[in-house]
Amino acid sequence: MFLQRPRIANWLHALHLGQPHSQTIDIELEALNRHAQGKKTALEIGTFQGVSAVHIVRGMDPQGVLYCIDPWPEDDGKPNPCWSITERHFKRSKIWGRVKILRDFSSKVQSQIPDQLDFAFIDGDHSWEGIETDWAIVAPKIKSGGILCLHDSVTPEPEPWRVLGSTRFYAEVISKDPSFEVVEIVYSLAVLRKK
Ligand SMILES: C[S@@+](CC[C@H](N)C(=O)[O-])C[C@H]1O[C@@H](n2cnc3c(N)ncnc32)[C@H](O)[C@@H]1O
Repeated sequence: MFLQRPRIANWLHALHLGQPHSQTIDIELEALNRHAQGKKTALEIGTFQGVSAVHIVRGMDPQGVLYCIDPWPEDDGKPNPCWSITERHFKRSKIWGRVKILRDFSSKVQSQIPDQLDFAFIDGDHSWEGIETDWAIVAPKIKSGGILCLHDSVTPEPEPWRVLGSTRFYAEVISKDPSFEVVEIVYSLAVLRKK
């Protein structure tokens, strides 16, 4: 468990002795990569240690750009270890030139998110208020035919206790929005297409 503590994880990663951590499981990461195929302008809210971002970029058009939003706050003037892992992981994965980092909360940098996104992955604040904010920011910016992926939006059968503000908001608001259709559900991940 202590290996998951961000400072220790950062040292191990720097020494090539550990991998970046993600709560997104392999079949969800594979779905992100598949739905990002050929996309040119993409967004991720909640990048953490960069695992899902690398899967998304690897699916995108080689000229595509992924906007990554996460605050990665400094702790008493010390670099944020999750940011250090992310930066190193992007460079080692050779995607550094294909990401644009917006280092703040989504609500603070929303004016810097381009319109006409053809792919977005929301995996930031999973409270009702958090996903409500991100939904209001992102939904209008997805172009017609574009894909919106939402993590922790469906309670997976093997984990019935995994009920969050984001699962309730998905069930009560997002899944009822007539301007989006469900493409597939992969474990806790909902994949939608804008009509
Ligand atoms: C579950 S982690 C993301 C995991 C990552 N997407 C992956 O699959 O590898 C959630 C991240 O969202 C960030 N976060 C929380 N609220 C946010 C907000 N309002 N805007 C942007 N990022 C936020 C946190 O700092 C954290 O790094």
